[in-house]
Amino acid sequence: MIHLFQPFTQRNVTLRNRIVISPMCQYSSVDGFSSDWHLVHLGSRAVGGAGLVLLEAAAVTPVGRITPDDLGIWQDEHVPGLRRITDFIRTQGGASGIQLAHAGRKASHANTWKGGQTLTPAEGGWTTVGPSAIAFSDDYPTPQALDKAGIEQVVEDFRQGARRAVEAGFEVIELHAAHGYLLHEFMSPLSNERTDAYGGSFENRVRLLLEVVAATRAEMPDDRPLWVRISATDWTEGGWTGDDSVRLARLLQDAGVDLLDCSTAANVPKADIPVGPGYQVQFAEQVRRETGLPTGAVGLITDAQQAEEIVASGQADVVLLGRESLRDPYFPLHAAHELGVDVKWPVQYERAQPKR
Ligand SMILES: Cc1cc2nc3c(=O)[nH]c(=O)nc-3n(C[C@H](O)[C@H](O)[C@H](O)COP(=O)(O)O)c2cc1C
Repeated sequence: MIHLFQPFTQRNVTLRNRIVISPMCQYSSVDGFSSDWHLVHLGSRAVGGAGLVLLEAAAVTPVGRITPDDLGIWQDEHVPGLRRITDFIRTQGGASGIQLAHAGRKASHANTWKGGQTLTPAEGGWTTVGPSAIAFSDDYPTPQALDKAGIEQVVEDFRQGARRAVEAGFEVIELHAAHGYLLHEFMSPLSNERTDAYGGSFENRVRLLLEVVAATRAEMPDDRPLWVRISATDWTEGGWTGDDSVRLARLLQDAGVDLLDCSTAANVPKADIPVGPGYQVQFAEQVRRETGLPTGAVGLITDAQQAEEIVASGQADVVLLGRESLRDPYFPLHAAHELGVDVKWPVQYERAQPKR
């Protein structure tokens, strides 16, 4: 039996296989609106056979954008464009999800191909916010520490984002609590020096995430899964650890989260990261083994056999593919062929399906 191509059911949603397109910013939006690029890019990956196509970080508020070109979900007008994408993905037998995000102290930058620098207000930038007035690095602006009202607004922004995501037809919502963005900034002692109910102890640092989870879950029908992406370690002394992730996973499980997507790092500029094939899989494996919460593995998963082994050995329930899926939008179709599994190709492409 090939595990990678077994369906995966959570609540009332069944993914046709265990291959998920990892959320990847396309920086191809104006005022947060999805574009033809999104339809073609994401649609191609659904045509390519992915079980779930997860849309990139979608900002729940304009100040939560990494760049002015980010996808957004902060106004109802964003919904119809997103609906067009979810409808198309469904016609291809795929499921769709969206990552709700707030970039926190890493917001207000030019996108990578425009130089990646901090944007000043004159250049269209804005004041960033975070748990504490600590900049990510010397090249980044110092954020404004959120006060209680600001925190409540963040929770409300995620709630409204979740409502719109449901309206747009996404089967899965993923909360972005990784990569040094706002929710991760609250979780990690490296970026959170608050002395109120949102800083200090582990319970306080994860409070904002749990509030966002509760608000999101409340907007979602019971039959749709909620996922959370974390950086399972900061790879830095004094930072967030794998054991913290296990502890958090138990709380998330109780709060109605269905899967923990285990990425790592990016909350501090210098970290000792042992980058190599599948280098983050150990965290998906640890969380799954110690808590029973389903997990997703991500990071340098690039071939069919490797992906199959991760799922077959029980290290994770799904694999998320980032850059490999950019190199090959048809990775799932190719992987099925390589692993000897019969999958249905789009009828329009059937004459090109390799014979075995
Ligand atoms: C172009 C690009 C954009 C990305 N944008 C996001 C994003 O919006 N949200 C996120 O959680 N990760 C983002 N990532 C990280 C990927 O989802 C993935 O975790 C990372 O690339 C490692 O997986 P890979 O080795 O398969 O590429 C991005 C990566 C790339 C290459």
